[in-house]
Parts: sequence; structure tokens; C-alpha cells
Amino acid sequence: MRILGIETSCDETSAAVVEHGTTVLSNAISSTKDLFSDLGGVLPEDAARAQTEYMIPVIETALRDANTTFKDIDAIAITHAPGLLGSLLVGTTTARALSSIHHIPLIGVHHTLGHLCSVCLDGTLQPRFPSLTLSASGGHTDLWLRTSHTKGQLLGRTRDDAAGEAFDKGAKLLGLPYPGGPSISASAEQGDNKAYAFPIALNGEDSFDYSFSGLKTALRYQIESLDDMSTDTSNLAASYQEAICLQLLDRIAHAVKKHTVSQIHIVGGVSANKRLRTLAVEMFPEIEVLTPSKISYCTDNAAMIASAGFFLTQESDDAHAPFVTSSTSPLEAVLS
Ligand code: KG4
Ligand code: ZN
Repeated sequence: MRILGIETSCDETSAAVVEHGTTVLSNAISSTKDLFSDLGGVLPEDAARAQTEYMIPVIETALRDANTTFKDIDAIAITHAPGLLGSLLVGTTTARALSSIHHIPLIGVHHTLGHLCSVCLDGTLQPRFPSLTLSASGGHTDLWLRTSHTKGQLLGRTRDDAAGEAFDKGAKLLGLPYPGGPSISASAEQGDNKAYAFPIALNGEDSFDYSFSGLKTALRYQIESLDDMSTDTSNLAASYQEAICLQLLDRIAHAVKKHTVSQIHIVGGVSANKRLRTLAVEMFPEIEVLTPSKISYCTDNAAMIASAGFFLTQESDDAHAPFVTSSTSPLEAVLS
């Protein structure tokens, strides 16, 4: 089954062709993040305007790279929620138009489910279930106990900021560019992660939830207490990154005490973080830890949406359930 995936939930415009949920034939991504590097975040209106220009060329690139045409596409998988409304509408209206012109079924995919399926891409990793899956991005931080690719139970999620948001807001306070994850990670390489003691929220509590807003405030107070923050940026970045990573892994450690799992999966933009990957392997020597096989599969991409679309069709109890009929309005799909 060959699926064209389309993803436009935030600042990226991506299209990909994936076979049987794992074999990536192409994964074209055009990002607008350079427009926002000095702003510390995305301007939704500007992102959506850029996406209307990028959408068709990106789809053409994905089809060309995969050496395929619409004739050989079995379904179109589209991110219908959550995300920036204008950006989602660019993708959903394009997908719906292509679906009706070429008579190809449309599959609505929740963005988070795409991240959950990203460890399958390339077929080099073999996901096994039950798994504990941490999905940490700029918009969500969720801990799942999964029994299959598309089924599972949400154990906990962030009560305020997402982990990626903590990186992005922290970078802004430290004077580092957006997105904050890569810039804090690069600065932290030169720093000492024990230089400052930042709090780890909900530590020791019987909860799988996360909270990062207090950490960001602690960073702000620490910066304000220094005469010149710029002389110690790397130490601040390293200590702040360590506190985010330790909180993320602390909830997994709590969960493995209560649930027997075959693997731990860490996905989403924050799973690109080198320190998080190193600490995860150190902390769970007995359990196999999977992270997406390429950094481009950690951050938003359409290949993961195509993969999730495939597994939805395979695992749905109702053969028609994952399909958005062409009579469904894109707004209904976006808001459902
Ligand atoms: O999954 P994603 O591409 O988009 C959302 O669904 O939000 O995640 C983007 C987030 C941003 O907050 C970015 O700072 C973070 O992932 N990120 C990282 C790294 N690369 C991206 N965080 C930590 N370390 C990284 N290397
Ligand atoms: Zn994402």
C-alpha cells in the first residue's frame, strides 16, 4: 500500500510517499523556521501564507523523488489536528481537492499519532509492544502505554508548557535562536550541566504528568540574578537542558515500575536531543530504547503521517473508520 502523506500543522510544509507504513520513498520538507529565528516562535499568519506557496511544489517534489504519480497512490494521509488552524487548512483543503480529483481515499491522521509511528520509518527498527512511548514536541508532551501502533492508553501529559516549548522559551531568555532545542543543545555542549540546580517538577509524586512552566521561571530568576548572563550561557543551557531531560525520563522510570513493557520509544522534535538519548540509554539498560532512525523523522514530517495512515487502515476495527469521506468538510476534519 503506497500512501502520500501531507503535513502542515505548524511552520513546515511536508509531503512524503511511504510504502506499507515503513519504506520511505520520499520525504520532502520545506520549513519556514528561518523566518522566525529571531522571534522566538512562529507567527501563524505568516506560516500559513508561506505554506500556500510551498504546498504544491513540495507535493510535486515528493512524487518525483519517489518516482511515482497519483495513479500509483492508494491513499492520501493528512494531518487534520491539532495545530495552527490556518496551516492545517492549507494541508486539508489541498488533500481533499487531490482526493476528489484523483479519486483517492483520504485518511485523517492526528498529528501525535504520526509522531508515535515515526520509529517505524525506514524499517530499520523493529517496534515491539507493549511499549512506553514518550512523545515530546513543541506542542505536546505525552506518555503513552501502547499495545499496538495505533492503540494504547495515555498515562500522563504536560499540565502547562510542552518540553519543546520549554526549550524554545528557555532559548529566548538565553538570547539563543528559535527553535530553542537545537540551539540550547549546541550551547550546552560547551557547558557544565551541574553548574546550576534547576527544579524537576512533580519529582517523586505518584503521577505521570509533566510541568515545565516553573522551570522556565527558575531560569529567568537565575538569569536576572547574574550581572552578565552572556558569560555563562553554556552552563545555563547545559543545566537547563539537563533538568528538562531528567524530568522527561523520571516519569518513564516511574512507569516502568508499574508496567511491564518490551520497549521504550521516544519520539517528537525533542527526541532529536543528544543528551536525552544518552541519558535514556544509561537509565534503562534492561529495556531497548528506540528513537526515530533519522533526525528528520523526529521533527515534523509527512512520512510519519503516511505511516500512521497505513497503520490506521491495518488496525482499525471498522474498515471505513480512518477514512475521511470526500463529503466531509475540511473544517469538520480539522476540528474533530
Ligand atoms: O515535533 P516538532 O517538530 O513540532 C511539534 O509538533 O511541535 O517539535 C518541535 C520542537 C521545538 O520546540 C524544538 O525546539 C524541539 O522540538 N527540538 C528539540 C531539538 N530539535 C527540535 N528539542 C531539543 N533538542 C533538539 N535537538
Ligand atoms: Zn510534531
